[in-house]
Amino acid sequence: MNKLDVAVLGLGRMGGTHVGAAKASPLVRTIYGYEPDPAQAELCGRELDIQTTSDLDSIMNNPEIKLVYIASINGVHAEQTEKALRAGKAVLCEKPMGESLAEAYRMIAVEKETDGFLQIGFELHYSKIYMQAKEWIEHGLIGVPVNCQCRYYASEFHGKNTWRSNSKGTLIGEKLSHYLDLQRWFIGSDVEDVFSMCAPSVVSYFNHPDNHQISLRFKNGAISNLNFVMYAGESDHTDPLLEMLDKQSDDGHFLQYHIFGTKGAIETDVFRRRIRRRTFTDGPQHLMNQIVETITFPKSEDQIWFHNTHGQNIRIAELVALGLSPENPALDSYETMKVGFAAEISDREKRIVKMSEMDL
Ligand SMILES: NC(=O)c1ccc[n+]([C@@H]2O[C@H](COP(=O)([O-])OP(=O)(O)OC[C@H]3O[C@@H](n4cnc5c(N)ncnc54)[C@H](O)[C@@H]3O)[C@@H](O)[C@H]2O)c1
Repeated sequence: MNKLDVAVLGLGRMGGTHVGAAKASPLVRTIYGYEPDPAQAELCGRELDIQTTSDLDSIMNNPEIKLVYIASINGVHAEQTEKALRAGKAVLCEKPMGESLAEAYRMIAVEKETDGFLQIGFELHYSKIYMQAKEWIEHGLIGVPVNCQCRYYASEFHGKNTWRSNSKGTLIGEKLSHYLDLQRWFIGSDVEDVFSMCAPSVVSYFNHPDNHQISLRFKNGAISNLNFVMYAGESDHTDPLLEMLDKQSDDGHFLQYHIFGTKGAIETDVFRRRIRRRTFTDGPQHLMNQIVETITFPKSEDQIWFHNTHGQNIRIAELVALGLSPENPALDSYETMKVGFAAEISDREKRIVKMSEMDL
């Protein structure tokens, strides 16, 4: 198989992760990096040990670069995706798909027009904890999934006066798009109605709300709820990342799904490193509930079970090298983005938003 040259746009925290995955891929030959500021480009080049530039056109005009990973700030995702697709490159762009519905739509329209390769960085589709849940659902082990509840309480790590805290977009695109996307994936039906509310914020320096409660009704009758609060867990700012789940498991952090079906239920719990499956049976006087499967994962496998960006990116290089299509179509990610933008409208206008209103 021919090896690829790839480029990573934006060499911050996520860009560094993308470079790490590209280095680990047997199919990647040379990795180029881009940062708009020349001094920053040079610094990142030294730290990451790759060739970097502050001239984006030199990347776009290099015919050897077949795949571009976009890990830049959200406000340039749409424009950089369009440039790369028009330059004939395959693109893995981080979520969110832009900061507005129009930007997200533009990404899809250009993908279609150029017949290009575009996948959005919803890497939870490659994370074992959620792949396991999806596999149990697909095998019918909980019957028909009818109700999906997600509880997510996270520490504020976006920082004061950063592009994130000052962002035009809300935390729905920046963070919750992952978790809305999973709800759509688990339920497996189109969303019909969206209702979202926010309480007054705890984090005073955000340009946007720090909490969201988003309810969805699906076309097949299922419902879901996402409860998110960004505040401050006790240990977040003092712990080295490797200790993250252990330290945060009982200090105010929660990231759990409860997926209820007609024959059973699934619980995922990131901070307990655990996924469980229950079955419901008809007892003499009550519905009976029994845990039938429990999987726990070791700390050494956190990345594979939780945010498997590494696995996703290695797979993307493979798909591009083999000339295959995206595994997780950008059009599906666009449906998730539409739900997120509908939630913003719902919150602003204090009403249920019909997904049919979101067609551009
Ligand atoms: N999939 C995930 O779980 C996940 C996790 C974290 C971040 N992200 C996404 O990755 C992206 C980057 O986040 P981050 O945490 O690395 O942020 P960051 O602030 O650490 O890095 C962003 C980088 O982009 C650079 N940049 C600024 N303007 C740019 C431009 N015009 N072109 C290219 N680069 C530019 C900045 O200098 C900075 O180095 C965001 O879109 C974020 O939503 C995704």
